[in-house]
Amino acid sequence: MIRLIIMSDIVPFYHNRIEYGADYNPEQWSPHTQRKDIELMAQAGVSLVSLGIFSWDRLEPKPDHYSFKELIETMDILHEHSIRVDLATATASPPAWMATLFPDTLPVDKHGQQMSFGSRQQYSPSSQTFRKRTAQLVTHLARAVKDHPALCLWHVSNEYGCHVWESFDEESIAAFQAWLRSRYTTIDNLNNAWTTDFWSQRYNDFSQITAPAHQPTFVNPAQLMDWRRFCSDALLECYLHEKRILRTHTPTVPVTTNFMELFPWINYWSWAPHLDVLSEDSYPDPADAHSGMRAALSADLQRSLAGKKPWLLMEQVTKAVQWRTYNSPKRPGQFALWSLSRVARGARGILQFQWRQSQGGAETFHSGMVPHDMSASSWKDSCELGRTLQNLSSLAHPQLRPSPIAIILDWDNIWAAEALIGPSQWDHSQAVKRWYKTFFEAGYGVDFVRSSDNLDTYRVVIAPQLALLDSQCCERLEQAARRGAEVIVSAPAGIANRNCQAYLDGYTGPLKDALGVRVVEHWAATPHLDEPWLGDETTHPLVDRISSAVATPSFHEKTELVTDSNSPLARAARQALQCEQLPALQGNHWAEVVSIDADDVHILAVFAATGPTTDIAGSPALTRRRIRKGALWYCATDPQPVLRAIIAKLACTYAGCYTASAHLPRGVELIERDDARFYLNHSDSAQEILGVVGHDLISSTQCSGHLVIPPRSSAVIIPGNSQ
Ligand code: GAL
Repeated sequence: MIRLIIMSDIVPFYHNRIEYGADYNPEQWSPHTQRKDIELMAQAGVSLVSLGIFSWDRLEPKPDHYSFKELIETMDILHEHSIRVDLATATASPPAWMATLFPDTLPVDKHGQQMSFGSRQQYSPSSQTFRKRTAQLVTHLARAVKDHPALCLWHVSNEYGCHVWESFDEESIAAFQAWLRSRYTTIDNLNNAWTTDFWSQRYNDFSQITAPAHQPTFVNPAQLMDWRRFCSDALLECYLHEKRILRTHTPTVPVTTNFMELFPWINYWSWAPHLDVLSEDSYPDPADAHSGMRAALSADLQRSLAGKKPWLLMEQVTKAVQWRTYNSPKRPGQFALWSLSRVARGARGILQFQWRQSQGGAETFHSGMVPHDMSASSWKDSCELGRTLQNLSSLAHPQLRPSPIAIILDWDNIWAAEALIGPSQWDHSQAVKRWYKTFFEAGYGVDFVRSSDNLDTYRVVIAPQLALLDSQCCERLEQAARRGAEVIVSAPAGIANRNCQAYLDGYTGPLKDALGVRVVEHWAATPHLDEPWLGDETTHPLVDRISSAVATPSFHEKTELVTDSNSPLARAARQALQCEQLPALQGNHWAEVVSIDADDVHILAVFAATGPTTDIAGSPALTRRRIRKGALWYCATDPQPVLRAIIAKLACTYAGCYTASAHLPRGVELIERDDARFYLNHSDSAQEILGVVGHDLISSTQCSGHLVIPPRSSAVIIPGNSQ
């Protein structure tokens, strides 16, 4: 009998608390340590653990010999102590017998080298044997635990694509051919889309197509784009394959898999609708000054992927990871501070990798909540955060405010950075992060949107480096501007369609009419020479009579823009930066020659007669065109931080977007939800904020107008005179 599952059949995962816990890998420890673990979990306030992520060899020690006794005993004990279980399907790390008995499951790298056993995630996403073996394991597992009261969430596999996002084995190539056949139907359609008439690449049949592995030189850009799309879909198929089985045996248990921040190899927009609970792993590097921002970006991304709904931080580290070359610890306070930054952005649970720090194996020196030595700060910090999250239980049902600002994030454009060959180094995901940083620093929240989304509710929309642009996205951008948004399109934009075929008659492609700006020529600067032709020898005017007579202005890192000292841009600069002197307005190593095709395009800045734009000095660099209630902007360079901040300031002013953070002390971030105000002090000094009246849930004190927040810590205020 076929049973239809409707969403409401699924048991709600979130309870009236903010979940707290970790990956729990008890296989590594003796029964005595496991008993101790349960006591310690109670001390730390653990409510949820992810169990069995790497336990395939325990659950199926030999092919078709299953053993769930130990697992169920652990689940029983956890349940007795009111700890819920996010149960992994354990398929992330196939056991040794898989590699020896079924070597066809092993992935093959770009160079045709088959990977071997001894690490983890060694499976080819398209291996039918692997799919069959996972199906069997998941079926037996689901049957064994389906009625267990601790089971509250399924955790399918682990970090799909983290280590192996593509495999070049024969089965994968056959699957790629089948994927192409269903996308293009006929080989002629594919030939047209891939422009195979160039370099004699025409195919007669789908069976001739191979993966873009090891080739003499550049691979066909459209082929590479399709390979990336296929690889993301192949992994999604692995997830859905397991999810279908789980639905059959446990129709009411929600299902998740853990995303990894802004991971480049998987199109999370296409995955997100298939997750009942959205979850992510996030590991900002404490040695990087942008890490507080990175945690925020990643959280806003998950909130956006979840449809502006709550989500779960499935993994972070208490102190330090072990997998970077250098692994610095979080500074005192940052573990809790960055956790609360996630809670403020909708996280309904904070979990760590892992509960108890390993004694051996690849992750021995990765911190755990329970450290090697109990007097290390991880343990104290873990208990403290557990208490803090309990104090925040009243915020367990977040009412998240929609942001007025949206940034378009598009995986095709991430992949295009690799697929398009020249004319410069672009990076859509870097541009996305950089624009996010601009708004984060200025105190604005940001939503991420896909290029096909309706943008009507936004007041400011950023389209950063959408080199591949389709007409649907252009319509969305234009419509948002008509409805009143300031839409900032930042170069390169619309130079090609989604098959990497250049737009003729203007590189702003389908957006050129609305922008009133047509890009006619690219003007790339060269920040580093690929191969200096004479090594490190430079020209000398005394002897190099010919070579020293011509300058090389394009050998430069930055473009420079000029604006009138009274222009709206200059005024915005003075306001944004609170300085009288206009700072240098600079872009990264990219410029374009544009033609202005409409009378009402306002030129806000032009390129300077220096560096790479020497030969196009005076050419428009930043434009704005009013369209009904809003405006479309075009920035013909990749703006540096100061220029981005000024553009953002001016756009927000035109759009009437203001932020309450503007007057906060340096280093303090304010996130307002309908139910609470999160003041996060990222700075190294205590900060004092006047005018705050309300109850601080963290310190359980009443604040009557004068809030002092210690360095790298937070206050969560419920506004009002009494609690
Ligand atoms: C994640 C992974 C965990 C653990 C962690 C260490 O990528 O899911 O299993 O390895 O990294 O930071």
